[in-house]
Amino acid sequence: MIKGGTPLHGEVTISGAKNSVLPLMAATLLTKEPCVIRRVPDLSDVKFMAQILTSLGAQVKSEGSTVKIHAAKITGHGDYDLIRKMRGSICILGPMLSRLKKAQVSLPGGCVIGARPIDLHLKAMKALGAKVTIESGYVNCAAKRLVGSEVFLGGRSGPTVLGTANLMMAATLAEGVTLIESAACEPEVVDLANFLNAMGAKISGAGSPTITVTGVKELHGAEHEVIPDRVEAATYAIAAAATNGEVTLHGARMDHMGAVLDKMREAGVEIVRKGPSFTVRRKGALKPVDIITQPYAGFPTDAQAQMMVLMMVTNGISIITERIFESRFMHVSELGRLGADISIEGPSAIVKGGRNLSGAPVMASDLRASAALVIAGMVAKGKTLVKRIYHLDRGYENIDAKLKKLGAFIERVEET
Ligand code: EPZ
Repeated sequence: MIKGGTPLHGEVTISGAKNSVLPLMAATLLTKEPCVIRRVPDLSDVKFMAQILTSLGAQVKSEGSTVKIHAAKITGHGDYDLIRKMRGSICILGPMLSRLKKAQVSLPGGCVIGARPIDLHLKAMKALGAKVTIESGYVNCAAKRLVGSEVFLGGRSGPTVLGTANLMMAATLAEGVTLIESAACEPEVVDLANFLNAMGAKISGAGSPTITVTGVKELHGAEHEVIPDRVEAATYAIAAAATNGEVTLHGARMDHMGAVLDKMREAGVEIVRKGPSFTVRRKGALKPVDIITQPYAGFPTDAQAQMMVLMMVTNGISIITERIFESRFMHVSELGRLGADISIEGPSAIVKGGRNLSGAPVMASDLRASAALVIAGMVAKGKTLVKRIYHLDRGYENIDAKLKKLGAFIERVEET
């Protein structure tokens, strides 16, 4: 339950990145030795991944935001339902195949934002010599040996983030050299490569479209701190501007947020760096800007919905084009309940901004759509009830507590 109309003010500390911690946890399957991961956010997706690793035989212990994982002995197949529930768990495929030369994972279903096939993941495993079959909802991969190879990993909407992660992990223990072309360049891919190299892998070029992995015999345990969550940071920065407030973000990496901050500046938002932190505030009326989502370092699809809300409070027309996922406008009709005027033309949403928004009951459909509904609820007059907030808890650590600290009227209420 949100009561809108209050500008956000104060300071917020950004948590570790969900989209980095999941592949990092999966990477611990590559060694028999214990690993320690720090700055792990308290999210339901992280709990799911811990359950999945436990179902594979690993020991997982959490102490605050530190997780200790020891995969001394693991099996080649995990809990079907758990894996099916969380798409991100597909990134256990590469480590399991690499370590055990066999892996069985349930096929991740589609999701509301798109069909999200895994053909590129399977192409990658086949390129290393694995035999891949799909049967009774399972992906089965097996190989006598994995041999390094040259793989072009570009798909119809560009590189794949978790596909790059899977191939990078599978190639660490393969014989010889693997060259990944059209690799994803996301900061989360670099974070994973840094962790794998700390475990004794030989990876170079992470962060560029060409990654080289020279296989090694085995990996050892390591310790690693997760990078900050650039999407969580973008969400708070946009919320500050949309509510006409002033918020200082601590612990975020501005160098990972170039495209978002650039578009916010173009819209007339002031972004002031203060040492390792930065402050977001509005200076005068906002201007409409056009957005096209792209692979990193372009504008992230995971900040598209939140940016749409900022464009709703801007006088004028802006066009937001989604190029990564084919049905990532589920939030548009719900924002319409609050009084937004948004129409969809193919891959683009045309936002006619400056409409008065009033609170209403709305339904979250996915993680980032739910974040957009929370921001819109804080802007709209009156009360907004955001339902199905389990979507939020998958990717935002203590979002209501953090927003309350910034002065928002937000309360978790039992669903009636
Ligand atoms: C990661 O998903 C993120 N998830 C997503 O964040 C993010 O939206 C996405 O990357 C793009 O940045 C995690 O890291 C856990 P992709 P991933 O493979 O790796 C197509 C969030 O809100 N594709 O890079 O699954 C695919 O359908 C989530 O935090 C194929 O065609 O995304 C999409 O159109 C949502 N075949 C495009 O590539 C494949 O085999 C990019 O997807 C794989 C992908």
